[in-house]
Amino acid sequence: MSENQFIKPVTTEKKNNLTIGGCDLTELARMYGTPLYVIDETTLRGICKSYKKAFAEYSNIKMMYACKALCTSAIIRILDEEEFGFDTVSAGEIYTVYKSGVDMQKVLFNGNNKSAREIQLALDYGVGRFSVDNFHEAELLNDIASKKNINVKILLRITPGIECHTHEYIKTGQTDSKFGFDLSQIDEIISLIKTKYKNLNLRGLHAHIGSQIFDTQCYYDEVEILVKEIARIKNIHGIVLDEMNIGGGLGVKYTEEDNPPSVRVLSDAVTNAMNKYAIEIPTIYIEPGRSIISTAGVTLYTVGSTKQVPNGRKYAAIDGGMADNPRPGMYQAKYSAEVVNKINSKEKELVTLAGRFCESGDILIENIELPQLEAGDIICVYNTGAYNYSMSSNYNRVEKPAMVLVNNSQSDIIVYRETLDNLIANDNIPDRLKRK
Ligand SMILES: Cc1ncc(COP(=O)(O)O)c(C=O)c1O
Repeated sequence: MSENQFIKPVTTEKKNNLTIGGCDLTELARMYGTPLYVIDETTLRGICKSYKKAFAEYSNIKMMYACKALCTSAIIRILDEEEFGFDTVSAGEIYTVYKSGVDMQKVLFNGNNKSAREIQLALDYGVGRFSVDNFHEAELLNDIASKKNINVKILLRITPGIECHTHEYIKTGQTDSKFGFDLSQIDEIISLIKTKYKNLNLRGLHAHIGSQIFDTQCYYDEVEILVKEIARIKNIHGIVLDEMNIGGGLGVKYTEEDNPPSVRVLSDAVTNAMNKYAIEIPTIYIEPGRSIISTAGVTLYTVGSTKQVPNGRKYAAIDGGMADNPRPGMYQAKYSAEVVNKINSKEKELVTLAGRFCESGDILIENIELPQLEAGDIICVYNTGAYNYSMSSNYNRVEKPAMVLVNNSQSDIIVYRETLDNLIANDNIPDRLKRK
């Protein structure tokens, strides 16, 4: 088993109350307030080690962390200590990584619409590689790099004709995607690089086939396509590409129904495909986000009002919701939860956990069996490390929650709770509206 196959952080224990990383969660709620994101360092470092171990036999492997899943300075520090590189997609992510003291050669800049400003910044900070997504970007990047007299290492982002999300796996000749070059456009972009874009140093190919993936056959097929494409490019263009980035996407276990494969099963799929198809072995980059950070994270909420609809459902409202976790509203994401202070209670009832935001769709978990809830109860929602804080908003002008890191019975703030003054810090009142 690897850590992505658990619903809860590996240090979760039931004592009088629920504890994670040796910290009583009611105590964390009292000290830091709720909603509160909690990250378990043991689970996070454990999954990093699982990845490194699973791919250990493959000497040319480079682990990267997809910052989009959760990007804060302390998280980046931990991933850096675990010897991961970083997949970034914005000036903000690059800046966070840079300020965290990372060797910027380990950083890849990815994305389908990088602005000139972001490209400038990435070059100024010495980002190691760009994943060039389209013709426009190739020209823009070459222009900026030539003005700076820099030779930029690039990968070409391609759409390999595989789309794979959880249980759906589609293999088509052509993927209708906003990301990357279609396979039929590869020759044209390579010819441009050879003849015109002298400041672009083509090193390899990059693909990403989806997220929350349970079927590792997708990775096997992806590697086959990339390896064959690299061989074809060598034949046609005489260019040897020695890097291959296979993206991220490994799934996690949000509920009992989810059955994600272990990291070892993923590494077997990649290695088997390499052994079968590759003649020269390139450096392989893998850049998971969700499977690295999701299981390490939980969110604590406090129950406020409860409501029994006559002849209908029972609702319990929590003090967070769609602004700190937009995933249920965006794509009907399912979660598991427990009541921290009623962990040993046997009697359960069906309840719907409603958020506090002004949208009737702001429902965090529909119809979950929990002990009878009352105001003040603390709910722990599992597997919220990825794509929660990173997708959070200030909807209803609500302050973003704090985040704490727990380990060995110690808790440390890694993101401060926003204040009301933070919320108005960027507001401006034009002179004509100013009060004398
Ligand atoms: C290019 C790329 N790499 C890596 C990832 C990380 O995917 P996941 O969090 O599913 O591992 C994404 C997610 O969208 C991505 O677009």
